[in-house]
Amino acid sequence: MGSHGCVVGSCEKGQRIGSGPLEVQMCQSILPCHANHQGELGAGQLLKWMDTIACLAAERHAGTACVTASMDDIQFEETVRVGQVINIKARVNRAFTTSMEVGIYVTVQEVLNRVMKRVCAAFSTFVTKPRGTQKVTLRPLDLQDSAEEMLEHSLASERRRLRLYNEEAFINLMSDYYNLQEKGFVDISGLWNKKAIVPTVTTQLTRVESIELVLPPHANHHGNTFGGQIMAWMENVATVAASRLCGRYPSLGAVDMFRFRGPSSVGDRLVFKAMVNNAFQTSVEVGVRVEAYNCEEWNEGTPRHINSAFMIYYLPGPNGDRPTIPDVTYTTHDEERRFLGAIVRKRIRMARKHILYSRDEGPISVPWDRNNQVYLGYNNVAALTILAGKQDWEANNINERVGMYVHEEEDLLCIRVEMEVKTSAFRAFSHLADLRLRPCWDKNYLSCKEVEKADEEETVYHVKCATINGGKCRDFVFLLSKRQPCKDGDPYVIAIRSVTVATVPPEENSIRSEAKCAGFLINRVGHSTCKVSYYNQVTSGVLPYIEGNLAGWSKSMEDTAMSCISFLEKDLLTTVF
Ligand code: COA
Ligand code: ADP
Repeated sequence: MGSHGCVVGSCEKGQRIGSGPLEVQMCQSILPCHANHQGELGAGQLLKWMDTIACLAAERHAGTACVTASMDDIQFEETVRVGQVINIKARVNRAFTTSMEVGIYVTVQEVLNRVMKRVCAAFSTFVTKPRGTQKVTLRPLDLQDSAEEMLEHSLASERRRLRLYNEEAFINLMSDYYNLQEKGFVDISGLWNKKAIVPTVTTQLTRVESIELVLPPHANHHGNTFGGQIMAWMENVATVAASRLCGRYPSLGAVDMFRFRGPSSVGDRLVFKAMVNNAFQTSVEVGVRVEAYNCEEWNEGTPRHINSAFMIYYLPGPNGDRPTIPDVTYTTHDEERRFLGAIVRKRIRMARKHILYSRDEGPISVPWDRNNQVYLGYNNVAALTILAGKQDWEANNINERVGMYVHEEEDLLCIRVEMEVKTSAFRAFSHLADLRLRPCWDKNYLSCKEVEKADEEETVYHVKCATINGGKCRDFVFLLSKRQPCKDGDPYVIAIRSVTVATVPPEENSIRSEAKCAGFLINRVGHSTCKVSYYNQVTSGVLPYIEGNLAGWSKSMEDTAMSCISFLEKDLLTTVF
């Protein structure tokens, strides 16, 4: 779309209709015609309503016609049934130049007891429809003073950055995985560590194709097909593909970021093609491609590729059990690429979820008390041991010396970095257990001072960390507990967690941040070689330092790990201070 001058949206400043500032609401009683054969609200119908309300909110701000450009990842948290009532609210969070972010929030209400539950939250981007060749630019949002509005307004630019970076992140991560595969570091079929022996189905067997004719009821007031209608049709074919793999009715659990590549309109024939791309331990990714033809293009023309989307299904079992999902294999090069693409998308979704939805967890630090040091030290080491014992670590990046893994469990996100170090396990332990040495190899550590040494095994440190994106510095007060192996084969343990101490109060010029559980396990491999495993349970205080790695735009953790290896392998002077 070229730029040929612009006009400004005409909605009067300050005009208010809904209950909140520029908020639009819809309330629907769920009837059998909205539900599937199991009496549950079809996800396609819900997506249709969400898109309609979001479009109305966007047009209310813009004062002109708008089209859906994209919808961010959506996780469905609650099943909605016939007889319940759903409420959908939408509001523009921020207007950029021709695009704006709309926040959508869906709740369900049980009519009998009036209990409200959250079904999902989503962010859509709408773009003003050009008038002729002229782009329509938006006026800025007239912000009220509510803290929530201000927060969403500033977070909207962060989300926009991730949204627009999405395709690049995907391409970068795909090439990383291809490199790993080529070098023989990773067998992609083994990345997800499926434990059980399960039947295998080829992705070919799940292929579905279906056609729809766009009629006036499917289009909006300016003749373009409603984005939500397309999502509903896509969900329909995707559900059939997922059920072909699973042999039963799957539930839509999440939708990967949706992008509308081009418009379609009344009279277009839309061809939907869907198939399973990959099956994980508890979920299945189905991809759908939509191609549009008008009447003239129907026989000879090349189709317009208007949309591709990826939907994630779960298999709900009786009593909340999860039946085993068959494994999948591929037969063509394209299917192998999609199999790998599904792994990469899963990783990006996970990163986006934790980056965008992590909220303050409440206080994490425990008060440091010398009288209680045995208990605190025990807890510190036990938490790290439990974290290290978790199963199902997914490989994110592996090279000759460093491996990066993540483990996700509901809201819990943990990272593990493994390093092969050519030095004795004891030497690595003594250097890593003195946190004052960490600024030598970790560029995020500006300084580290000892606050209190309770005994040989328990020390409290005050750490100052570098600023992220030019904001204030962060500082942490850590309890470090170190343990030597009790018997051969046990690892050396260095556990780290946040504590509060009266002598180090929060400082005005830095943000006091917290870590819940982190540290190192060091295993002897030979006389002069060891394996150092670093663990961190991600908190909002730690997230800014690693989010680039999770989302795939930074390699800073791998760089820090390499710097740690060279530090440990260097012929260090025994006294650094
Ligand atoms: N997600 C969010 N915003 C996006 C986006 C995406 N994937 N791609 C582009 N945008 C934003 C740009 O940031 C820009 O915003 P700004 O003006 O506020 O800076 C705006 O869209 C226009 O970008 P531009 O590069 O000029 O346009 P484009 O040629 O990429 O076209 C669409 C973007 C959305 C207009 C175009 O792809 C389209 O017409 N899609 C179909 C829309 C539709 O019909 N939807 C209903 C379903 S059929
Ligand atoms: P990609 O192949 O990179 O995933 P496409 O836009 O071509 O991107 O396709 C999106 C998804 O649609 C694919 O991942 C696949 O799941 C599904 N798909 C594409 N082509 C077909 C087809 N001919 N038959 C069935 N499903 C298809």
